[in-house]
Amino acid sequence: MTQERASRKKGSHTATVLSNVQAGECFWKLRFRFEGEAAQAFAGFRPGQFIQFDTSELAIPSIETIPVALRNGARRNVLLRRPFSFSDVTVESNVTTADLLYCIVGPASLRMTTLREGDTASIVGPLGNGFAVREGTRIALLVVGGMGLPPIRCLAKSLSVEHPDITAVAFIGSRTVNALPLEERPAVFEEDLSLSVPTFATLGVPSMVATDDGSAGHRGPVTECLSQWLQENADRPREEIVVYACGPERMLAAVARIANEKDIDCQVSMERRMACGIGLCQSCAIDCRVAGSDETIYKLCCQDGPVFDAREVVFGTDDA
Ligand SMILES: Cc1cc2nc3c(=O)[nH]c(=O)nc-3n(C[C@H](O)[C@H](O)[C@H](O)COP(=O)(O)OP(=O)(O)OC[C@H]3O[C@@H](n4cnc5c(N)ncnc54)[C@H](O)[C@@H]3O)c2cc1C
Ligand code: FES
Repeated sequence: MTQERASRKKGSHTATVLSNVQAGECFWKLRFRFEGEAAQAFAGFRPGQFIQFDTSELAIPSIETIPVALRNGARRNVLLRRPFSFSDVTVESNVTTADLLYCIVGPASLRMTTLREGDTASIVGPLGNGFAVREGTRIALLVVGGMGLPPIRCLAKSLSVEHPDITAVAFIGSRTVNALPLEERPAVFEEDLSLSVPTFATLGVPSMVATDDGSAGHRGPVTECLSQWLQENADRPREEIVVYACGPERMLAAVARIANEKDIDCQVSMERRMACGIGLCQSCAIDCRVAGSDETIYKLCCQDGPVFDAREVVFGTDDA
């Protein structure tokens, strides 16, 4: 489905919860079922697009189950919807199912843990642009930082199904092994590219893990793995390679710098706090370069993004 058709169908939809389980120390997996018009709308969901989730009516978990650091803020009203990506979307006749991986960081994500099978949720979407796969791409280098995994996992699936001629390779970074948002962990984390990480291996995508503390895979920033791959594959035509990245802004800035040095196309999925998600409140500005000039302009993460050409983003970190 084209981007234009997908965005024309965006709207407020009702989803039914199929399951909601703790899938790792730091994250949960929520599976939705969409029917009717909503099923049609989300059948056109592009990897990297997002939804705005209304959690205002959801129950608060019992106090003893709330992490101590979050207890103070837990009772705060959640007036605004929250943005989330999908890690997987499956279409079967008139039903679309979608998986949402989420980390518990505040009142909205805390409330999401109380959803049970059969509950309904109000979701606005699909929103934003999503990743683009341009003609001539032969190699997709997927770079993940922590909870940046969902849209990249969704992209990996879409590449394996819709673009089998493109070779994808994934580099997955996090602070520690426990912060890796992987549902199934390999017995051993290889230090090189391998098919040992089930999340990507089941899609035929080789991957490698990097952790800041060395508790799994390569010790150090995931960008070192990207640089090493580019060095070892320096003979590959750069026009055939595209880097796709989602994660903390500091990581995105480093990925953008590496891709820029090699003159390789790079798309980064940016994060901002989003009050409306549809271009009205102006709360999600991203400082962007104007091509061919020294000027910059503000673009909206929710409407012009969240995926941007890395060359246009002015990163607010030392790595820019
Ligand atoms: C396009 C997009 C897609 C996203 N996809 C996912 C996803 O798939 N899974 C997931 O777990 N999270 C995702 N997020 C982040 C998610 O929206 C926030 O974690 C959520 O708003 C948390 O709500 P809360 O009420 O639980 O916590 P809040 O109280 O809203 O936030 C808790 C802490 O996180 C910080 N924070 C929250 N949102 C952002 C943000 N956008 N940028 C920087 N800091 C922030 C706050 O400053 C605060 O310190 C996505 C964000 C965007 C913009
Ligand atoms: S979130 Fe309101 S304009 Fe982007």
